[in-house]
Amino acid sequence: MCGIVGIIGREPVAVRLVEALKRLEYRGYDSAGIATLASGRLERRRAEGKLRNLAARLETEPLAGVVGIGHTRWATHGRPTENNAHPHASRRLAVVHNGIIENFRELREELTAKGHVFATETDTEVVAHLVTDEMDGGLAAEAAVAAALPRLKGAFALAFIFQGENDLLIGARQGAPLAVGYGEGEMFLGSDALALAPFTDSITYLEDGDWAVLTRDGVSFRNAAGETVSRARQRSQASAFLIDKGNHRHFMAKEIHEQPEVVGRTLAHYLDMSNGCVRLPFELPFDASKMTRVTLAACGTAYYAGLIGKYWIERYARIPVEIDVASEYRYREAPLDSSGVMIVVSQSGETADTLACLRYAKQQGQKVLSVVNVATSTIARESDAAALTLAGPEIGVASTKAFTCQLSVLACLAIAIGRARGVLTPERERELVSDLIAVPGLMAEATKREPQIEQVAAALSKASDVLYLGRGTSFPLALEGALKLKEISYIHAEGYAAGELKHGPIALIDEEMPVIVIAPYDSVYEKTVSNMQEVAARGGRIILIADRRAANEAAIDFQAVVAMPDMAPDFAPIVYAVPAQMLAYHTAVAMGKDVDQPRNLAKSVTVE
Ligand code: M6R
Repeated sequence: MCGIVGIIGREPVAVRLVEALKRLEYRGYDSAGIATLASGRLERRRAEGKLRNLAARLETEPLAGVVGIGHTRWATHGRPTENNAHPHASRRLAVVHNGIIENFRELREELTAKGHVFATETDTEVVAHLVTDEMDGGLAAEAAVAAALPRLKGAFALAFIFQGENDLLIGARQGAPLAVGYGEGEMFLGSDALALAPFTDSITYLEDGDWAVLTRDGVSFRNAAGETVSRARQRSQASAFLIDKGNHRHFMAKEIHEQPEVVGRTLAHYLDMSNGCVRLPFELPFDASKMTRVTLAACGTAYYAGLIGKYWIERYARIPVEIDVASEYRYREAPLDSSGVMIVVSQSGETADTLACLRYAKQQGQKVLSVVNVATSTIARESDAAALTLAGPEIGVASTKAFTCQLSVLACLAIAIGRARGVLTPERERELVSDLIAVPGLMAEATKREPQIEQVAAALSKASDVLYLGRGTSFPLALEGALKLKEISYIHAEGYAAGELKHGPIALIDEEMPVIVIAPYDSVYEKTVSNMQEVAARGGRIILIADRRAANEAAIDFQAVVAMPDMAPDFAPIVYAVPAQMLAYHTAVAMGKDVDQPRNLAKSVTVE
């Protein structure tokens, strides 16, 4: 989940390394550092905390050199101190690493016994010492890396530069993404194409087990067996412009407000609006009429999108759907047969656990369809078909527009599968498509509730615990609302199925407890009203997100009602996500939190 970059150029590289790191900060921001070769000598600058601390450091202590590597860290092993910040170095080399070296303890013991002295708490430092050890034994840099790589267990992307080697940069990939970029007389390495976009749009993605030897004039690739291999070069679509916040204070605010547009764009990609039907822009990689089961796997917000997708696929396609968080699913040894299919959902397309589920399903002979935002990501490339969400780059760590685009795509998939299975009549499909077409406009209407939501958030910011309740498709949205609140405000929040409350969580209700109820006027609305009565009877403070008709019928003394536009209820979660996101956003802002880069988190989770 760290970001890594490397440049072997003709001009000084320090400023460009920092520029690339800025575009990788979504992967982690606990500390940052760069190392360059200045007159053949390795030099480093590192700083604890955000990248701006490193940039400030470089103002007063600049680094020369035309070869360099950089890193922005999400700490796994060792506290986020300057000493633990990458690059890690020895007298021979400097290295940056994204991932985890699982066997670092045994390697460290072995190398310590040989006289190596370790200076940090990180797993990465063993890589520096291991390669150094091989070089001390007489191997040249390239051969030393070749000898060291097979000894590393775990997931990693690595970039190395070497003392005295002014025309050499080596990268390696095992389970974490790495791209090579081509320039005019200069070459680049980066965790993704976005990082390299200011310098080049000509990219090669390394495959698992690959390593690459870069000089100013080009690159040669080796596979895990050490054989020279060729890897395709492609044009990257990643934008070179530094993505900005527009008129908004935070990326998250901008991304919440972009939703009517990006959901509209996504739906337009999947719907034939004039004929009132779904038209998928790719071929399903399975025969929907013959499949017997769908398995969904994803993490975090993408998992909650998948959970809502389960309701839709079961309802519209009448096919059983199993869903699990990817970190559990991958180790469950769940039986899969070739008549089932797997759908994975991911914004980044690089989430390690989700990718592992995809690979597991493929090994078991299943076809895998991914719902994914980054078209060039590993998940998009490895799945049998990728259903793209057209959310555009999502920078805020708290996922917002990717979520509603995932829901939009899942809704279209459910309808397409339902039609292919003969479950949905053309009339019913037309009705559903017409409901979907209305969604972007309803989302725009929902954003107008922001002033009121800001007031509700001011009160919420005083709470230490918050409950979110919902039934049917509003239950996963309650989980998502609670996740949004806890990840950016650090207030403890939990989502529950409203009907589950009486089986335990109701014990938490008192006059202090804000209870946010998401209750569109749907087939289970009356049941939710009964659950709200149970909360009200115990003095709970209910904040209702519902349309006016629903609020009036409930006849409960609510602390606040966020009045949503009237709508057909099927796709309400896409619209009701807007107030849930805004509530979390304004609560965090009221508390003065770092909304776009909340503590301990990273946007792309490439470790398990
Ligand atoms: O990139 P992915 O969609 O695979 O990421 C999955 C989760 O890490 C992600 O949704 C995370 O939960 C977000 N921080 C939620 O806002």
